[in-house]
Amino acid sequence: MFTPYFLEQVDSTQDFIKTLDPKTPTVVMADSQTAGRGRQGRVWISPMNQGLWMSIAHPNLKNKDFKLTEFMTRVINVIPHQGQLGIKWPNDLYWNNQKIGGILIENIVTSGGEWNWAIAGIGINLNQEKFPDNLPNPISLFQVNGIKSDPVTAAKSLCASLSDFLQTALCNDQQKILEQYQQLLYGRGELCNFSRAGVSFQAIPLGITEQGELLLDRIEKPIQHGELEWKIKTD
Ligand code: BTN
Repeated sequence: MFTPYFLEQVDSTQDFIKTLDPKTPTVVMADSQTAGRGRQGRVWISPMNQGLWMSIAHPNLKNKDFKLTEFMTRVINVIPHQGQLGIKWPNDLYWNNQKIGGILIENIVTSGGEWNWAIAGIGINLNQEKFPDNLPNPISLFQVNGIKSDPVTAAKSLCASLSDFLQTALCNDQQKILEQYQQLLYGRGELCNFSRAGVSFQAIPLGITEQGELLLDRIEKPIQHGELEWKIKTD
């Protein structure tokens, strides 16, 4: 089980958990963050009690058998949804064409350059009634279903779901998880817009490989994380 830390306010739960230098499974949850971080250096707006802002540290997050696919599937399964919730590869949570959450995995490297530890940051918009205009396509669970959620309850369910999985880092039924992820894959079977190395193109996502790479109809080689930008329809 995780050792929990519940904070009222912190700069970023990612940074706080690193200061703990955890050697056992640890979770840090904050009611608000003043300097929340998203992927690719983006700011993650984290107002008080408006969402699930949490970081977890677990030795098996750096295990070679750790499966981001299963991790994502477990995260999505704790959000009440009826079909329109999906995973925009590799680790964004989408409601139709709008972003409801995301995962940030950060590696901690020792001064000797050795890969030491990994931390997963989870941000899910729960209760926001509106967002700053500069965010491209945000949405909260409240905007979807009209129900306010308690972030602590959501955090506890998520920890319970992730605990077993991280304990073994191996899933009992890889095939089932992969199928679930494929079902949840945002844009699957639809013509989508991408850009790679500055070149824009269209392609149809077909699914992911067992290694979690993205398969596109027009590109033979599976795509690795960070290799392309997936452009979103904003209608
Ligand atoms: C993304 O989609 O870009 C990932 C967003 C991750 C946000 C979470 S909120 C809790 C944790 N602390 C942070 O500073 N970031 C992550």
